[in-house]
Amino acid sequence: MNSHQTRKRLVIGNWKMHGHQAANASLLDGLCAGVPAVQDCDLAVCVPFPYLGQAHASLQGSGITWGAQDVSKHEQGAFTGEVSAGMLSDFACQWVLAGHSERRTLHGETDQLVAEKAVAALNAGITPVVCVGETLAEQEAGQTDQVIARQLAPVLALGAQQVGKMVIAYEPVWAIGTGRTATPEQAQAVHAFIRSQLAGLGVPEVRVLYGGSVKASNAGSLFAMSDIDGALVGGASLMAEEFLRIAAA
Ligand code: PGA
Repeated sequence: MNSHQTRKRLVIGNWKMHGHQAANASLLDGLCAGVPAVQDCDLAVCVPFPYLGQAHASLQGSGITWGAQDVSKHEQGAFTGEVSAGMLSDFACQWVLAGHSERRTLHGETDQLVAEKAVAALNAGITPVVCVGETLAEQEAGQTDQVIARQLAPVLALGAQQVGKMVIAYEPVWAIGTGRTATPEQAQAVHAFIRSQLAGLGVPEVRVLYGGSVKASNAGSLFAMSDIDGALVGGASLMAEEFLRIAAA
């Protein structure tokens, strides 16, 4: 068995700021109905905070797990508008995204803050999905590896024991929501770089997901790459059938 086969595939839906109770109910019901046909793949959804209770109630016992899209680095206190990892675990969240590019770009999250959020999640028993990725300008300037290394540095500095419990997601900013996916070879090259960083720390088996315009039609060729262990899916995770087809790809 090569190591690709030892890392179970993981597909996580990132609903972003989409949904309402009625739409969520039919999406979640559709996922529950279709999930028995999905094999050898861990399936999860990261929903907006107000719908964590709905996800919990609908998905409990289904085999699909759930989580949030952000978390505070603080445990509790006077932090108006923030949501703590403890609150997420109150809703049985298994996952939380940390440092999605939209958080980094639109909300000024730094590499250091993202690492602190990852620690807050781990302290509450939640798996952080640490997102990294370069912008189009950085890619065109040939700085991809350098940017990824910079983003990962404060995370890797937490050490093997902590990083070994995380998931990393590579999402080139230029591929998010644009319909422009990295080619499987392009993505694999960056995943191999991330894998080498993880191996250097002694945790080569951490799962590395690809994200950015993943659809059922391109998922199979991405998943065929030796260092791509699954996907973080935005737009296509809002349609049950499409999302399940990605998981089954
Ligand atoms: P997309 O988003 O699949 O809509 O490109 C991915 C993400 O932002 O996680």
